[in-house]
Amino acid sequence: DDIVTRMKNINMIELGRYRVKPWYFSPYPQEMAASLSVIFICEFCLKYMKSRKCLERHLAKCPLNHPPGNEIYRKGNISFFEIDGRKNKAYAQNLCLFAKLFLDHKTLYYDTDPFLFYVMCELDSSGYHIQGYFSKEKESSEDYNVACILTLPPHQRKGYGKLLIEFSYELSKIEGKTGSPEKPLSDLGLLSYRSYWSQTLLDILIHLKPQENGEKPTININEISEMTSIKKEDVISTLQHLQLINYYKGQYIITITSEAMETQDKAMAKRKVRIDPKCLHWQPKD
Ligand code: COA
Ligand code: NA
Repeated sequence: DDIVTRMKNINMIELGRYRVKPWYFSPYPQEMAASLSVIFICEFCLKYMKSRKCLERHLAKCPLNHPPGNEIYRKGNISFFEIDGRKNKAYAQNLCLFAKLFLDHKTLYYDTDPFLFYVMCELDSSGYHIQGYFSKEKESSEDYNVACILTLPPHQRKGYGKLLIEFSYELSKIEGKTGSPEKPLSDLGLLSYRSYWSQTLLDILIHLKPQENGEKPTININEISEMTSIKKEDVISTLQHLQLINYYKGQYIITITSEAMETQDKAMAKRKVRIDPKCLHWQPKD
């Protein structure tokens, strides 16, 4: 790619109630990008338009007040829709185009057929408003359970990134598989995953019961990985990052410090929105 085609090309986008400044280049058609200050996007079907007038005309006839596909989760005002990139190609392509505005190093997949998209919405009286999403390959030879993940900038830093991540692991649990996000992760992606992994692992370790003979509890990496669907490599790297793990005489020894327990208590108290597996109605397709 030459420098010109990679330059940020859109000044501003308007989506629902929000105006957002793009972070990176996204290959919207030239006539959208060139010299136009704002691109208008329908928050339900994600169709992009070059003027407010076009958007208004579109809204008058757009039948959607939610993403296409199936609503597979609902708790309170939080919903998830599953969208098949083959069956809802236009939506999927528009979603990828939009997401690319906030993703630096990802290649844009014009071919959305091999992907499923999980779109998280907040529901109010005017409809289901997209807050974020992740995509997932229908078949991943590398055990990836997330391809791209995005919280829309106006909704970032409210815990939705970790909610999306939690959801991706709940799907993997139902599949009976372990998974990991596609690499490379962005800086913000890594921060979010580290935070999710750390809290998930500490939650398990803190609640382990002592053995019958009163000795300290034991658990191995495989068991942790199976319980959480977090891939073994990520379990190990997280425990190393937390400095809770030592390799001693051929075994990993995990030691929980009281400091780690305190940090964990505070972190979990802050995590108000969680995925409730009972509200997830989903079966993998084979
Ligand atoms: N600076 C510092 N820390 C940040 C941060 C920022 N700008 N944004 C998020 N974090 C940290 C939070 O503090 C939180 O950690 P904590 O709970 O331990 O404090 C953790 O990351 C997750 O925060 P959360 O609010 O759940 O995430 P989010 O809704 O802001 O979404 C991303 C996180 C990665 C999805 C979001 O930043 C994003 O969409 N980025 C652009 C796309 C991208 O890079 N995707 C990943 C690569 S594919
Ligand atoms: Na415009």
